[in-house]
Amino acid sequence: MVKKNIKWIKKRKRDLYYKLAKKLNYRSRASFKLMQLNEKFNIIKPGNVVLDLGCAPGGWMQVAREIVGEEGFVIGIDLQKVKPFKYNNVIAIKGDFTLEENLKKIKELIPNEDKKVDVVISDASPNISGYWDFDHARSIDLCKTALQIATEMLKERGNFLAKVFYGDMVNDYKKLVEKYFERVYLSKPRASRKESSEIYIIAKRYTGRVWEEEDKIKREKRENDSELLVKKIKNQRKSFKL
Ligand SMILES: C[S@@+](CC[C@H](N)C(=O)[O-])C[C@H]1O[C@@H](n2cnc3c(N)ncnc32)[C@H](O)[C@@H]1O
Repeated sequence: MVKKNIKWIKKRKRDLYYKLAKKLNYRSRASFKLMQLNEKFNIIKPGNVVLDLGCAPGGWMQVAREIVGEEGFVIGIDLQKVKPFKYNNVIAIKGDFTLEENLKKIKELIPNEDKKVDVVISDASPNISGYWDFDHARSIDLCKTALQIATEMLKERGNFLAKVFYGDMVNDYKKLVEKYFERVYLSKPRASRKESSEIYIIAKRYTGRVWEEEDKIKREKRENDSELLVKKIKNQRKSFKL
């Protein structure tokens, strides 16, 4: 395990985007993924109000702020605490975005009267268990919640971007997104490691369609059930010596 970690740290230090992030003072190498996706799909524009779900340590928020400028506003939420930014139009709160109460807090902080945003972005990742199918399912769960939030928070014609771990449910998820947006694309930016199963869904022009009952998901923490399931599978595997 220690050997594996040392190998991973060495590899990371050789990584071009890791080095660039350090050099340019971005909080994460993920910043370059948003930059590349935005160059290609024009998701965020100057002056926009942006909501970032799963924003820590804040690399995407830095990039979003560079694009929206002084006139825009960037608000983020994460389970982890995010170091404050030097701009007064960039705010991050600590919390779980799958909980309704936290969405209320976000709405209170949005400076517009209508409490709507132009763009919702989500780079949220579940805790990785290492079991491909399971991580894929949890990622789809988070993406569904992010999509539901997007339909509640976006202005008509607003844009949505979300990271999803690739797997057999991606096509169904894309179809669901297509129900609410005019154009939907899947893309893997150059800064995303080839060996990573992550892929990004880009949805442009929210139609204004209200989130439908049949798509509804319960806004509650399912983390505990998941953790229990992971432990159970791990124990099972140990007993089989897999
Ligand atoms: C890959 S990181 C995001 C990196 C970020 N885009 C950046 O550039 O700095 C994924 C984040 O999603 C957060 N996350 C996962 N589930 C969440 C949830 N339900 N509510 C809030 N944050 C969540 C994790 O805490 C983690 O910090």
